[in-house]
Amino acid sequence: MEGDRQWIQVARMNGGQFAGENSQFMASVKAPGYEVEIMQKRKLGKLLEVSAIGLGCMGMSGNYGPPEDSQKMIALIRTAVERGVTFFDTAEVYGPFTNEELVGEALAPLRDRIIIATKFGFDIDHKTKERRGLNSRPENIRQVVDASLKRLRTDYIDLLYQHRVDPNVPIEDVAGAVKELIAAGKVKYFGLSEAGAQTIRQAHAVQPVAAVQSEYSLWARDPEPEVLPACEELGIGFVPWSPLGQGFLTGTVNTSRSFESSDVRSWFPRFTPEAIAANQPLVDLLKGIAARKKATPAQIAIGWLLAQKPWIVPIPGTRKLERLDENLGSAKIKLTAEDLREIDSAASNIQVQGARGTGRERYV
Ligand SMILES: NC(=O)c1ccc[n+]([C@@H]2O[C@H](COP(=O)([O-])OP(=O)(O)OC[C@H]3O[C@@H](n4cnc5c(N)ncnc54)[C@H](OP(=O)(O)O)[C@@H]3O)[C@@H](O)[C@H]2O)c1
Repeated sequence: MEGDRQWIQVARMNGGQFAGENSQFMASVKAPGYEVEIMQKRKLGKLLEVSAIGLGCMGMSGNYGPPEDSQKMIALIRTAVERGVTFFDTAEVYGPFTNEELVGEALAPLRDRIIIATKFGFDIDHKTKERRGLNSRPENIRQVVDASLKRLRTDYIDLLYQHRVDPNVPIEDVAGAVKELIAAGKVKYFGLSEAGAQTIRQAHAVQPVAAVQSEYSLWARDPEPEVLPACEELGIGFVPWSPLGQGFLTGTVNTSRSFESSDVRSWFPRFTPEAIAANQPLVDLLKGIAARKKATPAQIAIGWLLAQKPWIVPIPGTRKLERLDENLGSAKIKLTAEDLREIDSAASNIQVQGARGTGRERYV
């Protein structure tokens, strides 16, 4: 299986010099004789190379409670780069706007080493920040990209996703607008989020899609019947969002946990006490495998995704350094074919309760 060794030793410090690829990247490591591990890369589409695990930055600016201190988050993002993460996920709507500003400030000095993914697609009032539905009209896409470039402190976006398919704008028009932005050098690659297989095909015919980003994890397997086969056939990468099930699959959420009103889980259908109790067997399954592998449930949840296909790149989100390290450690977990059969067979007997995500996600 490709990706068995997600981490490869590529360089050995020798008298202050590195041998091997990426030596410039690791030049900050000082200790002589120190063996450096750099996370293996994966490809989204034919050309876009990213670290096997990315970092979802959304939660740093809200969603799971009030925004975290921005200087702490800038330090966390930069530490992720030091750890070998090259793939950072944000969106216009996170904040809104503030998450792109945070990611832009954190990554501006490291721009040439990393890949930034952002997203357009909502209709956001710039004064009140009110979200008024979807807007993927080409003129809005162009305006959003110009504003995102400023907030991200860059002159190109590596990967630009449509955040949600807009039923009022033909996907061919959206793909055509992104194609023009690519020709203008403002965008490098095109992505879709929560799109159905037919939409992916239509978009790809106009402008090749590098990556589809949709919710995927052991408790949200919606991409498996149609979207993943379409991605495989067309050579498109897949980026699972909420790979830890908004934290549930880590085993840190139980029925006594309450969520403040600024935490989306206070109204997400899968985080009612009834759903948490009903879905506990999934966490127990992960805990069992984790104990055997000397790993954590979070690492098994991410490792399971990595093991599905070599073109899948999860983007777990965290505000905490120790969890960043824990999540990146998933790349070292080796799940055998037998482990994967066991997980699949046990998971297929667990009926997950509650609609995923906001409860409104539907492929279009
Ligand atoms: N395209 C879309 O529509 C869409 C939708 C949602 C998200 N996304 C993207 O996907 C990224 C990841 O998704 P997500 O943040 O929603 O969900 P996630 O990665 O599944 O889970 C994040 C939650 O799990 C907690 N957590 C992380 N690592 C942990 C660990 N090792 N042990 C215990 N708890 C842990 C985090 O809390 P702490 O911060 O306290 O660690 C946070 O509450 C986002 O940042 C965003 O970039 C995209």
